[in-house]
Amino acid sequence: MSKPLMCPPELLARDLRGQVAVVTGANSGIGYTTTEQLARQGALVVMGVRRLEEGRAAADAIRRAVPAARLEVRELDLGRLASVRTFAREVLAAHERIQLLINNAGVMNTPRGRTADGFELQIGVNHLGHFLLTSLLTARLVESAPARIVNLSSCYHDRAMGREGDIHFEDLFFERTKYDGWTSYAQSKLANLLHARELARRLAGTGVTAVSVHPGWVRTALMRHSMPDWVQTAARPLLRLLGMIEPWEGAQSSLYAALSPEVEAHPGAFFSQVGMYRDRTANRGGWPLVSPNPHAHDDAKARRLWDVSEELVRLASAAPRAA
Ligand SMILES: NC(=O)c1ccc[n+]([C@@H]2O[C@H](COP(=O)([O-])OP(=O)(O)OC[C@H]3O[C@@H](n4cnc5c(N)ncnc54)[C@H](OP(=O)(O)O)[C@@H]3O)[C@@H](O)[C@H]2O)c1
Repeated sequence: MSKPLMCPPELLARDLRGQVAVVTGANSGIGYTTTEQLARQGALVVMGVRRLEEGRAAADAIRRAVPAARLEVRELDLGRLASVRTFAREVLAAHERIQLLINNAGVMNTPRGRTADGFELQIGVNHLGHFLLTSLLTARLVESAPARIVNLSSCYHDRAMGREGDIHFEDLFFERTKYDGWTSYAQSKLANLLHARELARRLAGTGVTAVSVHPGWVRTALMRHSMPDWVQTAARPLLRLLGMIEPWEGAQSSLYAALSPEVEAHPGAFFSQVGMYRDRTANRGGWPLVSPNPHAHDDAKARRLWDVSEELVRLASAAPRAA
């Protein structure tokens, strides 16, 4: 296994006092570790969490490690657009400036399911919820520039367990084709990448830089539908040898994408931790990395995904007014 890529220490010592960061899925795994580090550096972090109690417990744990941490726990269910709108309205009302949005939350290889708005679960939570959230916060990010948007994608946007990542516009929600959890995950993670790419095109010249990342194969709760907990625990040394990394290592791509000045030169790019790609030379990762998936470079596909997503979340009637 290649060694994980690590953020230069000077980035992790940057003073972020006065900055506001929004992190989705902040109570667990990579989102938790990212939140703790940003708070350690002085940022006020808005923790968007599906389960408030878990979120509050996570914030308490971070405060024990970083007593000066400035954290705000707010309910955010990306599988319910009404919740996304309420979250965005409250965050906009509370913060005149937002410099960082980390679209981190996600689910993987779930059984077939639907969001409250009737979307297939994985593209609904991983992409469409974040698409709406980002759209509702974009104007504030532009006003606060220089600012960043970081989407958590995955090396599985390329291939997930043998399924090529593509956007299946003809049947986005598996209504006519047989549902497959990995095909759906690959689609949603390609959507995260293409969303960042199209955001970068639309935000050119605004001072807001949008990128996507692969965090690595990280020991988190994400595997719950693919590998029983006891296997993860019992086989931990073996999994490490096979390339599974710890959440702190998994947060490095997000932190680099959020903090490095070099990222501004690569709007829309994909920043990858060590991964598993069809082209093995890509496996060592790269900040940035040229994705081996041709669909990841298809601007027409990115634009079409934007239009379809906009239609699906009915942005026009949903945009909240800032208080
Ligand atoms: N771990 C890996 O190997 C790996 C590899 C590639 C990419 N990623 C990506 O990294 C990101 C973070 O995952 P992780 O590994 O840190 O997994 P994790 O520990 O399971 O964290 C996922 C987070 O997303 C939240 N979430 C799930 N459904 C949600 C919803 N409907 N609304 C709001 N939040 C929701 C979870 O909340 P609950 O705790 O309430 O469920 C949790 O906080 C994901 O986007 C994932 O696709 C991870």
